[in-house]
Amino acid sequence: MFCKQNRWWDHAIIYEIYTKSFRDGNGDNIGDLTGVISRLDYLCKLGIDTIWLCPVFLSPFKDGGYDISDYYKINPDFGTMDDMEKLIKKAHQKNIKIILDMVINHTSNQHPWFLSACQSKSSPYRDYYIFRETDGSSLPNNWISSKTLEPVWTYNPKTNDYYLHIYTKYQPDLNWDNKEVREEIYKILKFWLKKGIDGYRFDVINKIAKAEGLPNLSEEDVSPYADHLFENQEMVHEYIKELNKEILTDYPEALLMGQTSGITTGQAVDYVHPSRNELHLYLQFEHVDIDKGHEGRHKDWSIKEFKESVMKWQMMADKGVWPTVFFGSHDLTRMVEHFGNIHPEYHSISAKMLAVIQLGLAGTQIIYMGDELALKNVEYKSIGEFTDIRSHSIYQARLKKGEVKEEILKDLRFISRDNARYPIPWERAERMSRDNTSVLEFYKRITEFRKSEPAVLFGSVRPILDNEKDLFAYQRNYRHIIITVLANMTGDIIRIDMTGYGIETGICNYEQSSKYELKPYEARIYKLETG
Ligand code: GLC
Ligand code: CA
Repeated sequence: MFCKQNRWWDHAIIYEIYTKSFRDGNGDNIGDLTGVISRLDYLCKLGIDTIWLCPVFLSPFKDGGYDISDYYKINPDFGTMDDMEKLIKKAHQKNIKIILDMVINHTSNQHPWFLSACQSKSSPYRDYYIFRETDGSSLPNNWISSKTLEPVWTYNPKTNDYYLHIYTKYQPDLNWDNKEVREEIYKILKFWLKKGIDGYRFDVINKIAKAEGLPNLSEEDVSPYADHLFENQEMVHEYIKELNKEILTDYPEALLMGQTSGITTGQAVDYVHPSRNELHLYLQFEHVDIDKGHEGRHKDWSIKEFKESVMKWQMMADKGVWPTVFFGSHDLTRMVEHFGNIHPEYHSISAKMLAVIQLGLAGTQIIYMGDELALKNVEYKSIGEFTDIRSHSIYQARLKKGEVKEEILKDLRFISRDNARYPIPWERAERMSRDNTSVLEFYKRITEFRKSEPAVLFGSVRPILDNEKDLFAYQRNYRHIIITVLANMTGDIIRIDMTGYGIETGICNYEQSSKYELKPYEARIYKLETG
């Protein structure tokens, strides 16, 4: 391949906003849609062209809004329908597209469909969910979800049976086998598209189909978790194909991006190869999960593993799997803490280094809010300070096993989703915008560079200097241009000869640089014109 693509998102830089913590517009200290509107100019200057809004719908907010109780209403904390319409209009005036995060694997347990389904077996919504009876001596099956570390079944006393939830008990799974459910979902999707949004990020879409008959996890299974029985099942592709047809027939320009954690490169082909008519973009987590151990524990990782993973997915472009590139999100530890170094000496330098690696790569780019400000994790002291439901699940599960509190807290401080969901310190952004050497200003330069350099947008990708284990290096090649991206991911000096890579592009995180060595966390981009 790989070449110029011309779907509107192929070269987009998406900015992910966790609305609640982004910008407060009405003085109640909760981020909201007017807050987002007030920051559109900031986003334009940053060089982004699409906003991904985490769920903004009515929700009891047990899981950060990923538990929706009314898909047609805006969460009053975030504003009104009017605000949403204004945001779409104003964003479009500034050439910014809006995609909504849509949770259709499950609803909130407070959704009227579920409330009714729980009331009686003859409820018209009964079959919208997955209920199973037992003789009372055991659960309907032995599935444990890696997301909650608990069984996926919760008892419903009123009808004396159990409902399935692969996330928390506040998030009952919808029954996608039921055509009525699918039709309700399409109605919702079209409702917002009609309002003018430009597409969706579908939450955990690769989990909507469960293994037929909900079979037990067998004893030979190595994993204690049953995730593979509710992920990437054959039927998921049928459902997504149907969704694709339903939506694209009416809204051919809509972006369908799916969160597909745990997929292999082969499965990615099935989800996003253009010939499949399923999704346009995937979100996979291999590179950001390389340090993720069992039950929230930290696992050692190496730069080699990180770059090999990133590069493996880059190379998939040749197989029709257009890359989606991100290093941070509302579910992840802060990027600079994850892959950089927050020591004061290297904090900004390493944040810039990561920006160079990321924004030099091919594909649709996603920047998570606040990473352009090099935000760090938060120093939580006790379990009571965490609001993230997943952090509490991990804490409880490990406490039950007799682990020491401080050990668990140490892991949570690093992995808790609260880190990325901490309110954006706007005074920091303000300060950075007045400092030409800041991380924020560096991001602006690099997004601008990206957009003005066809080789960065359209060029092929090739890893180079593979033997340098601490160096993340690759080249982008388009027509007669070769762009070389070099990044030292450690605090040690790396000596290499860079004289053959052409002219400096001005993208470098140190003021002075030598052609023969990369300083700690130094990153730069060269450009060579051949012929
Ligand atoms: C996705 C979301 C996460 C949420 C989960 C359940 O993984 O990114 O925030 O908790 O789905 O909806
Ligand atoms: Ca507010």
